[in-house]
Amino acid sequence: MNNFEFYSPARLVFGKGSEDNIGNLLKPYAKKILLHYGGGSIKKSGLYDRVKASLEAAGVAYCELGGVVPNPRLSLAHEGIELCRKENVELILAVGGGSVIDSAKAIAMGVYYDGDVWDMYETGKAIEKALPVAVVLTIPAAGSEASGDTVITNEEKALKYGYGSPKLRPLLSVMDPELFFTLPKNQVANGITDMMSHVFERYFTNTTEVELTDGLCETVLRTIMHNAPRVVENAEDYAAWCEIGFAGTVAHNGLVGCGRAQDWGCHNMEHELSAIYDIAHGAGLAVLTPAWMEYVWKDNVAMFVQFAVKVMGVDGSYREPELIVKEGIRRLRAFFASIGQPATLREMGIGEDRLEEMARKATHECFGQEHPIGGLKKLYWQDVLAIYKLAL
Ligand code: NZQ
Ligand code: ZN
Repeated sequence: MNNFEFYSPARLVFGKGSEDNIGNLLKPYAKKILLHYGGGSIKKSGLYDRVKASLEAAGVAYCELGGVVPNPRLSLAHEGIELCRKENVELILAVGGGSVIDSAKAIAMGVYYDGDVWDMYETGKAIEKALPVAVVLTIPAAGSEASGDTVITNEEKALKYGYGSPKLRPLLSVMDPELFFTLPKNQVANGITDMMSHVFERYFTNTTEVELTDGLCETVLRTIMHNAPRVVENAEDYAAWCEIGFAGTVAHNGLVGCGRAQDWGCHNMEHELSAIYDIAHGAGLAVLTPAWMEYVWKDNVAMFVQFAVKVMGVDGSYREPELIVKEGIRRLRAFFASIGQPATLREMGIGEDRLEEMARKATHECFGQEHPIGGLKKLYWQDVLAIYKLAL
C-alpha cells in the first residue's frame, strides 16, 4: 500500500425530503447565496420552487443563474463570477448534477482570482481561496458532490479540462434519491457508467497488497451493477436509487483510491470526445472502457482476472487467464448494452477523421510536451489512437 492522506470533509445529508431543509442548512454559512442550476429540469419537477421556499423560510437571500448545459461552458462561469462579485454572494448553491456543480466550483474560485479562471484549468496552479459550494444533487453520476474536482469546457478552444483543489470540495451536499425519479433513461445509464468508471480508474492499478481497497472497489461496483437493472426498469425504485446514489458518492470521494496508484486514462480520453463532439461523458466512457481493457490487460493479467472473477462473476477455475479476462470484458460490454449505452464511437456519430487530433491532445503531444496518460499502462498518443480505433 502506498502512503496516502485521506480527508473528505463534504457533509452528506441523505434521504427523503432532505432538500426541503436546505435553507436551514445554509443559514449558518451565508446571508446571501447564488442559486445555480441547469436547463430547466428542476423547474419542471417542482424542486426549484421547493428550494426557493426553503431559502425564503430560513431568511437566506439569493440571486440566481440558470442555464448550465451538460459539458458546462466557461462563458457561463464568467457570467457567474461577475454576478457573485456584484451581489456580494457568500456561498453558491448548485441544484443539479455534475455540470451545475462543476460550473459552481469554477465560479467559486474565479471570484477571488484576478485573471481568467481558465488559467487554473490550463496550468493547474493552486488556488488560495474559493467561495463555499453546497449542493442539492439531482443525478447520481459525476461524484462532484463530494469531490474537489471541476471539469469545464472552453468552447472557444474546444478544450475540456479538469482542475482539482481541496478548497473546492463542497461544504455540504443534500441527496434525496426521490429526486432521481424524473431522470430520463439515457441519463440514468450515463450516471451509472460514470460512477463505475470512477471506481475503475482507482481499481485498475499495479499497486499490490491493497486488499481493503480492492474489496471496497469490488463491492461498490457489484452494488451498482446489481441495482442498475432495477432503476432502468422502474425509475421510482427508491431502495435501488439509495444504493446507487450513495455508491456514486463513495466512488469519487477518494476513499476507494486510498493507497493505490490510480489510472484515469479513460477519463482523459473521454474528455477529448465530449470537448469536440459534445457527447455525454458517461456514454463516451461506456464505449472507451472495454476498448481500453482490451488494449491494456496483458500489462497486468492478475488484476484483470481478479476483476473478471470478483466483479463480473466469471468462473476463475480455468487454466487460461486470457479466456477469463475476455469473458469479463464481454460481460461488461453486455451490461453497458443492457442499460442502453452505445457500443461504438460510430453509434455516437464519431468517425475516424479527428481521432488522431484527439489522441495528440489527450496526451498534450500537440502542445509540444507529451505527458503520457494512464497509470496501469502509460499511454502515448499512438496508444490512445489505437484505443480510439478499437472503440470505433
Ligand atoms: O440541465 P437540466 O435541465 O437540469 O437537465 C440535466 C442535464 O440535461 C438532466 N438532469 C439532471 N438531473 C435531472 C435531470 N433531468 C431530469 N431529472 C433530474 N433529476 O441530466 C442532464 C445531465 O446533467 P449533468 O449535470 O451534465 O450530468 P452529470 O452529473 O453526469 O455531469 C456530467 C459532467 O460532470 C463532469 C463530466 O465531465 C460532465 O461534464 N465530471 C465531473 C467530475 C467531478 N467534478 O468530480 C468527475 C467526472 O468524472 C466527470 O468528468
Ligand atoms: Zn467521470
